[in-house]
Amino acid sequence: MRILLIGDIVGEPGRRIVQQCVPVLREQRSLDLVIANAENAAAGSGVTPAIYQALIDAGVDGITLGDHVYRKKEIGKTLEKQPNIIRPANFPASAPGSGSMLLPTKNGAAVGVFSLLGRVFMRPVDCPFTAADRVLSEFPDDVHVRILDFHAEATSDMQVMGRYLDGRVSAVLGTHTHVATADEQIFSGGTAFQCDVGMTGPHLSILGRRIDRVVETTIRFWPTPFDVASEDVRLHGTIVEVDPARGCALSIERLAVTEKAAREGA
Ligand SMILES: [Fe+2]
Ligand SMILES: [Fe+2]
Repeated sequence: MRILLIGDIVGEPGRRIVQQCVPVLREQRSLDLVIANAENAAAGSGVTPAIYQALIDAGVDGITLGDHVYRKKEIGKTLEKQPNIIRPANFPASAPGSGSMLLPTKNGAAVGVFSLLGRVFMRPVDCPFTAADRVLSEFPDDVHVRILDFHAEATSDMQVMGRYLDGRVSAVLGTHTHVATADEQIFSGGTAFQCDVGMTGPHLSILGRRIDRVVETTIRFWPTPFDVASEDVRLHGTIVEVDPARGCALSIERLAVTEKAAREGA
């Protein structure tokens, strides 16, 4: 079973390359499941019901979010109603939405997907390790393929989570930093791991936003709108191949597609 996690989709440029690429990638890379982190999909912050639907229509099977989950409040109802979009699982139980989802695949096996927020340089949330234990205990026993999108700032946090869950999940893949890391590997217990799968959006930017605006505000403290940038649009993500019967990872591969390559059908 081949699963792609697409890194943080930023604004219209990010959505555009997802719409161009996903149908082609599904075919070319024999993907059984596509998951996307869409926490920055609406003008760089949050996601709307219309964007949720557009991403699903483009061939994304399930959507994860992160610290920006509720930036567009109208997504609350979608989070409550739809079975294929989740908030982080270590939010309070009363927070709108679910912390995990079961996504069906063509061969009938469901894939368990959950998301957690790290606690280093992030808002205070419940312990992600305790939350991981809870989510895993709640997945049905016949759900062997289990994917965690760990939305965290620090690579140390990521590595601790990866080692903690080694052998209990198919993959621990990071999002949130918007920078792909070159540490993809399979741990001894069979869990695929990468600190961050990167960002899908304009890379001539600072984390997807206009360089001039972010630099000015950082240096002069004068507020400017952090508009989404427009150039050097790329899709970043990671493909994990998993043994569906045992749930262990067989391979992990970083994916980077430029807009030019996407236009030419790759
Ligand atoms: Fe993000
Ligand atoms: Fe984030």
